[in-house]
Amino acid sequence: MKELSSSYGRVFIGPKEQCFRTAVFLAEGSRAQSPGKKHFTWALTGGSTPKEWYQWCVAKDAFSPVTLATTHWFVSDERYVRPDSHESNFGNADRLLLKPLGIPADRKHPWSTNIAPGLAAVEFQRVNAPWFGRDRTFDVCFLGLGDDCHTASLFPGSPLLRDDGGHYFAAIDTGEKGWRLTITPSGLKAAGLIVVMVLGAGKAEALHRVLAGDFDPMSIPAQILKACRDKLVWLVDEDAAAKFLET
Ligand code: 6PG
Repeated sequence: MKELSSSYGRVFIGPKEQCFRTAVFLAEGSRAQSPGKKHFTWALTGGSTPKEWYQWCVAKDAFSPVTLATTHWFVSDERYVRPDSHESNFGNADRLLLKPLGIPADRKHPWSTNIAPGLAAVEFQRVNAPWFGRDRTFDVCFLGLGDDCHTASLFPGSPLLRDDGGHYFAAIDTGEKGWRLTITPSGLKAAGLIVVMVLGAGKAEALHRVLAGDFDPMSIPAQILKACRDKLVWLVDEDAAAKFLET
């Protein structure tokens, strides 16, 4: 893959299959680099990109036996729906990846969506603190990029972009898209490796705005990742990279 550096971290550009493979490689590498760590935690995300990646991972038997035997699984953000909904980020990860891989229930950590959203965010932090360790969220945090430049459930204009109160996780009423539970900018700073997978021509404009636009995270939420650039990797296919490469 082609690698470029940017003020938003490392940008790898190549075919989709290479993006899929590199996502696994980076997370596996991160686990292998922290052998003394008590628990290795990996947050997946939502949307169509991960769904395709999950199916690829299962078909290719992509994870190492150690990862399969030890990793604790989360999602970086969640929709406030039942786990059996096709909208549920953890539900989709479970159906398409974790169940087919035989991951046991004690290493699956969904958000609670059967209690009030604000409480669900507080509970997520409290219940999972033993897996995260001190001043840490996920060891590996996967994210996507929306065509409006949102990432996780941080949408344009979100008050969490201005001030998250130092909380790592929050509930936010997004209006049109309903309640979302999400990692916050502070939570992202407390994560280990962050991997953003961006695929398809539909993302070319958004990626260009994030990486080459003026710094305006209130309108371009994914730009908050600039604060995480030392541990941030973008995996971008050629179609999504097209406009950025013109600059
Ligand atoms: C979600 C996500 C969201 C997603 C982007 C990209 O719950 O939808 O967490 O941030 O990653 O919208 O989604 P696509 O992969 O569908 O483009």
